[in-house]
Amino acid sequence: MSEKGIRIGGLSKRYGKGDTAVDALKHVDMHVAPGEVVGLTGPSGSGKSTLLKCLGAVISPTAGRMTLGDQVIFDDGWKVKDLRALRRDKIGYVFQAPYLIPFLDVTDNVALLPMLRGVPNGEARAKALELLTALDVQHRARAMPSKLSGGEQQRVAIARGLVNQPPVILADEPTAALDSPRAMAVIKILNEMAHKFQTAIIVVTHDEKIIPTFKRIYHIRDGVTHEETGEGRGFE
Ligand SMILES: Nc1ncnc2c1ncn2[C@@H]1O[C@H](COP(=O)(O)OP(=O)(O)O)[C@@H](O)[C@H]1O
Ligand SMILES: [Mg+2]
Repeated sequence: MSEKGIRIGGLSKRYGKGDTAVDALKHVDMHVAPGEVVGLTGPSGSGKSTLLKCLGAVISPTAGRMTLGDQVIFDDGWKVKDLRALRRDKIGYVFQAPYLIPFLDVTDNVALLPMLRGVPNGEARAKALELLTALDVQHRARAMPSKLSGGEQQRVAIARGLVNQPPVILADEPTAALDSPRAMAVIKILNEMAHKFQTAIIVVTHDEKIIPTFKRIYHIRDGVTHEETGEGRGFE
């Protein structure tokens, strides 16, 4: 297996202390290769969001090791000085509620991240439009977010998650708000993007419509992961 992508070893997360402590993750092991889209399922409260938050450097694990690409980012402590740069440059996020910025149009919502990295505005907007086209929402490029349907907003949020071409994308229930054809279209695009940019993607989902598309699925229960080979035909 490739060394790149996402690698998690013995990852543990304890919230709180003493009697009220919650062990949300217990020695979790996981690997996602570059170009791979892996599903993560499990009941409510099983630790899915905690795992994504640790990987996304939003909260600190209690112990264990996390590697993104060829960089060890956590080994019983953060190994990266600038966590903000890590979050901005290495990780793309797609959440269920799209959280678009209401006073920026669709193109600038997507172009903002590269602009913040210092990419010239014209170049950032061209990149945004390229992704909006790939996601088939280019006709909404100049619209304000409030004018979009839920499905359109979600596709714009995906474009934003991909625009910096991060090596890792973390998606928490990205299709929950979408009807079946649109949910499948989103998963198809995530697969295409994974393949094209060699992105390692984790999709947290309960969505019965998309679960059969994964070649590999991790189930998490009470903070412990179990790997399964999906019936997944994928999209190749
Ligand atoms: N900030 C927190 N403080 C204390 N406990 C938490 C916190 N966040 C989550 N938990 C607990 O950790 C466990 C896993 O939660 P979570 O990762 O949100 O699960 P999921 O996303 O699978 O529903 C649950 O028992 C939850 O109550
Ligand atoms: Mg959750």
